[in-house]
Amino acid sequence: MKSHICALTAVMAAWLCTPATAQTYTMVVNVDQPGATIQPTMYGVFFEDINFGADGGLYAELVKNRSFEFPQPFVGWTPFGNVTVMDENPAFDRNPHYVRIVNDGRLLRAGLDNEGYRGIGLKNGKEYRFTVHARVPDGKQAKVAIELVNSAGENPVKGEITVTGNEWTKYSLVLKSNFTDAHSRLRVLLPDKGTTIDMDHISLFPVDTWKNRENGLRADLAQAIYDLNPGVFRFPGGCIIEGNSLATHYQWKNSVGDVENRPLNENRWNYTFKHKAFPDYFQSLGMGFYEYFLFSEDIGAEPLPVVSCGLSCQYESNEVVPLDQLDPYIQDALDLIEFANGDTTTTWGKLRAQMGHPEPFNLKMIGVGNEQWDKVYVERLEIFTKAIREKYPEIKIIGSSGPEADGDKFNYLWPEMKRVGVDLVDEHYYKEPAWFLANAGRYDSYDRKGPKVFAGEYASHDHSAAKHNNWRAALSEAAFMTGLERNADVVLMATYAPLLAHFDAWQWNPDMIWFDNMQLMRTPSYYVQQMYGLNAGSRVLPLMMEGKPATGQDNLYATASIDDNTGEIILKIVNTGDKASAVSISLDGLGKKQKIASATCTYMQNDNLLAENSLGNESIIPRTRPIDVADKQLSLNLQPFSFGIYRLKISGKK
Ligand code: AHR
Repeated sequence: MKSHICALTAVMAAWLCTPATAQTYTMVVNVDQPGATIQPTMYGVFFEDINFGADGGLYAELVKNRSFEFPQPFVGWTPFGNVTVMDENPAFDRNPHYVRIVNDGRLLRAGLDNEGYRGIGLKNGKEYRFTVHARVPDGKQAKVAIELVNSAGENPVKGEITVTGNEWTKYSLVLKSNFTDAHSRLRVLLPDKGTTIDMDHISLFPVDTWKNRENGLRADLAQAIYDLNPGVFRFPGGCIIEGNSLATHYQWKNSVGDVENRPLNENRWNYTFKHKAFPDYFQSLGMGFYEYFLFSEDIGAEPLPVVSCGLSCQYESNEVVPLDQLDPYIQDALDLIEFANGDTTTTWGKLRAQMGHPEPFNLKMIGVGNEQWDKVYVERLEIFTKAIREKYPEIKIIGSSGPEADGDKFNYLWPEMKRVGVDLVDEHYYKEPAWFLANAGRYDSYDRKGPKVFAGEYASHDHSAAKHNNWRAALSEAAFMTGLERNADVVLMATYAPLLAHFDAWQWNPDMIWFDNMQLMRTPSYYVQQMYGLNAGSRVLPLMMEGKPATGQDNLYATASIDDNTGEIILKIVNTGDKASAVSISLDGLGKKQKIASATCTYMQNDNLLAENSLGNESIIPRTRPIDVADKQLSLNLQPFSFGIYRLKISGKK
């Protein structure tokens, strides 16, 4: 192989050093020596309510502040006429606020508009289900007009319900939109003079949620996540587990039971960045732990809940629950396992059954703490680990290696994780593309005897391009991921982060999927994840390039696996260089009568590393084509800046 001497750091060299002359590289795959099992959990999804990912995103509710529980109760609403917020004799004890609307005749009408999440996205011909809990204080009857209003305020779609009696009752109405508008509003008003009504939990959902579930998910976003074929689903965060303060840490028990009675929580991402304030960012918990477990099941992924370990975000308030007051946090973790797996005679298993899922969710693992560090974390993790192991020895425990991929916190935590004896260690890295390239061999030298690795949050951040989701970032992730797969004996799971971002309300970029109120955009990183997710293979095969694993020599990265279901050999090869590379691949260990019968290549390529997808125009996408094969050998001409997955069908018996 040609060697290069670059007067650059190894990291820079990874992008800039390309061979001056064309040369054919040789890769050898030992097809008769399968190694580590690639866990079905290997390529997964990490979900957090950041960037309006849940409320305003995956959770299909279109009304913001539907229960009037925001600290300023009319946030999201424009009241007109005589409208007041009350809490006497409420419908829901944990969400006690409601509105009283009086049409006292002094004004033309009385009611209120909801603005949704940066508008309400409505589509022509689609149906929307309005629901409300209402009563008439004088016990008589009152009409309520419901309108879907476009952004110009013209020709609303109208419906009506009649509310009877002074007991809180749920009413429902389906309206079909006759317009398409990303910034529509919902209007509720009292048309008749002299009527008064109380209303709470005013809600509007598309009828077509994913799998048509009530209280369901936005169909296009849920489908896009499903299409990744994820093996694990980590939720509900991220930093929101910890909270800005202990008072606002994610409490899963608040997120289950009747959706109307789940108390509001502040979203930890509301004021995180000084230049980006989101005073209207709260968690309704409408998408709560039951919905997370159900979604995991629906997408065929192992659920991975993460619980607070009694530390608020260490970047923010850094509040610590004293060790002698940790019991409620530990009990939350134990009860969560009961909620997921307990039989229906247990307290929490019974609630799961009442919510619609008598069968257990088969929870196998739990994360304790998110991005924690220092002794305060380890002390708490140890207590959690002991308690969980005592009651649920079969549950795998995931600890944290802190917020960085190396350095003091990381170096302190890894030995501590080994000492405590967690099953997996969650590593996080948001780094430049060059780091990802330089780290394709990161796990080659990891201790095989210690805890396994969960690469729980990672993404390539191209600072030179304002951290956009460009092709350079995605290509570097593809290259890095060859190293995850090659080390499948150590790395059991990996999840890109974050998953979702609303174009009009994001706090963090890059993100895997972007969306507005009408449609979504899959980034090049999404497609890299999908290519891996759909082509993981079952067991790793040794692949050597000129006698070594391909970890970036001459800009080439590669890994191989076998799919035990189909018998196919799967090669993943990345060329991060700006020149095409000729590669000759031979399959060693095929029987005399065996040969490559056919092969397909699914590939992504773009000459412009800065290229991005945009809403309505996804040009950086995978394409699949058949490729020529010759007996036991494959000759490839790898395009510059390309990522290809080759599936080889083998014919003949050994
Ligand atoms: O993914 C965004 C954030 O990054 C997560 O909430 C946190 O764990 C990390 O700092």
